[in-house]
Amino acid sequence: MKQKIAFVLNGNKIEVEVEPHWTLLHLLRESLELSGTKPGCGEGECGACTVLVNNKAVNSCIFPVMEIADATVTTIEGMVGSSGELHPIQQAFVEQGAVQCGFCTPGMIMSSRALLDENPNPGEGEIRHALAGNLCRCTGYTQIIEAVEAAREALRNG
Ligand code: FES
Ligand code: FES
Repeated sequence: MKQKIAFVLNGNKIEVEVEPHWTLLHLLRESLELSGTKPGCGEGECGACTVLVNNKAVNSCIFPVMEIADATVTTIEGMVGSSGELHPIQQAFVEQGAVQCGFCTPGMIMSSRALLDENPNPGEGEIRHALAGNLCRCTGYTQIIEAVEAAREALRNG
């Protein structure tokens, strides 16, 4: 039986009806039609479905929807500014050529956001560690790490 839960999605407080067995990914894609979050392995292994819950990166494909009640959820759709401008992390991915097929990109960007929010000055090792759960089947890891480093500089310089 469906239940009502309230949470903050990309800065807006909303109320939705969910089946308690749903995952957060199911709510986002199938119910709210936010298709930016990608379904990959469905088992918490590839990171394609990464979103932020209370500013922490989680695999939405295995995250129980009931746990977002009263929480803050940020998806890739919430990264763009109010005038549609790209977030500095998104801009860096574009400029560094870190997007090939793009399937891993939303998850990579959300994991990068969680890292840079928590640690504004991560070294390469810390970036690699933060993205270890995000797989890129196009193997564009070098450009992805360079993009996060560029985003780190852009955010530090305001
Ligand atoms: S789809 Fe969620 S971790 Fe792979
Ligand atoms: S860009 Fe294709 S999976 Fe990473």
